[in-house]
Amino acid sequence: MNTSSVQPRSLDVALGERSYPIHVGAGLLSAPGLLHSHLAGQQVLIVTSETIAPLYLQSLKQGLGDDLEVRELILPDGEQTKTLATVTRIWDTLLELGFNRRCTLIALGGGVIGDMTGYAAACYQRGVAFIQVPTTLLSQVDSSVGGKTGVNHPLGKNMIGAFWQPRAVVVDTATLASLPVRELSAGLAEVIKYGLIRDLDFLAWLERHMIELRKLDDALLSEAVLRSCRIKADIVAEDETEQGVRALLNLGHTFGHAIEAHQGYGHWLHGEAVGAGMYLAALLSQRLGWLAEVEVERVGSVLAAAELPLAAPENMDAAAFLEHMRRDKKNLDARIRLVLLRGLGDACIYDETPPALLEQFLQECPRETLNK
Ligand code: NAD
Ligand code: GLY
Repeated sequence: MNTSSVQPRSLDVALGERSYPIHVGAGLLSAPGLLHSHLAGQQVLIVTSETIAPLYLQSLKQGLGDDLEVRELILPDGEQTKTLATVTRIWDTLLELGFNRRCTLIALGGGVIGDMTGYAAACYQRGVAFIQVPTTLLSQVDSSVGGKTGVNHPLGKNMIGAFWQPRAVVVDTATLASLPVRELSAGLAEVIKYGLIRDLDFLAWLERHMIELRKLDDALLSEAVLRSCRIKADIVAEDETEQGVRALLNLGHTFGHAIEAHQGYGHWLHGEAVGAGMYLAALLSQRLGWLAEVEVERVGSVLAAAELPLAAPENMDAAAFLEHMRRDKKNLDARIRLVLLRGLGDACIYDETPPALLEQFLQECPRETLNK
């Protein structure tokens, strides 16, 4: 990755007294004073994972300096560890260390570490400070921003959680150099999502630059992260607790969460399931008469260029989809609420898909075995 010429840039999530900055740049993990400036007090617990610790923990500690009480907790990796039992380990550690209300938790890792650390911070002594240091593309463009924290339940994805905003998000794009390609593709799914829901120019930019993005061109990756975070920050500032417009960020997620839960957490990556889910959402939008065939092909092409699946799992029938989709958090009554596309760059929340049409669509939609 060529990182020499790209200057760090920042933007704000505007939430009144809970506003916070997102800093984006290569090498920010160990930038002297940056993390320090966002701490609540002297006590710091870095929560990270077995994969990330050997790669980035030392650099982060170096950037923090040596005038603090810095401790670390290294958790196992994987979506299947995103449970209340793992979060309890964070609380146990904080209590055993005697950490007080002015402590700060730093989440160093992907969305799994970020979601769990944020939830631990939301509940510890009724709420302490935390900072997101996301290391996957997915967490840099999505999960670290906006304050959704929580864990999975065997009966549903992210069903236990809280809104709790970080003090800052520090995105070091250089960490993407060590990311497995499959994880990069998963992150690109959420990047493409922003173009599809509200920014046709960004979608066209992604179509033009997908090859260089997959080759980790740092200037382009930083641009993609910033544009994605800008869109997410604006939506979160408008609707922090998802009473309306924030639900648009769930394009592809109703199908995607059903796939993840049905396959067993961790078998399909979250971003892969969202990628397939966005393609299904485009196909359903076409059935409703909103998208032309050529537009659906465009959605398929950009997802395929990011190496994302374009079909539901072979082993998942319509009944399995519907069982999970009926439990989705967006549903407010018996009707299934979906995020669909009235056009490219123009998503909407829709709960009037006729049940028979939805069931037939789910019977007929493309299926494949994930070949990873
Ligand atoms: P992840 O956290 O499981 O990370 C993926 C894998 O990559 C892990 O094994 C991790 O150790 C490894 N990894 C992370 N950074 C690395 C690096 N720089 N180099 C090498 N390996 C690295 O997965 P994810 O895709 O980051 O996050 C998915 C989770 O995020 C899901 O649980 C999803 O529900 C959640 N999510 C939350 C929100 C939100 O708003 N809170 C939004 C989207 C997704
Ligand atoms: N990833 C969806 C949201 O933050 O609202």
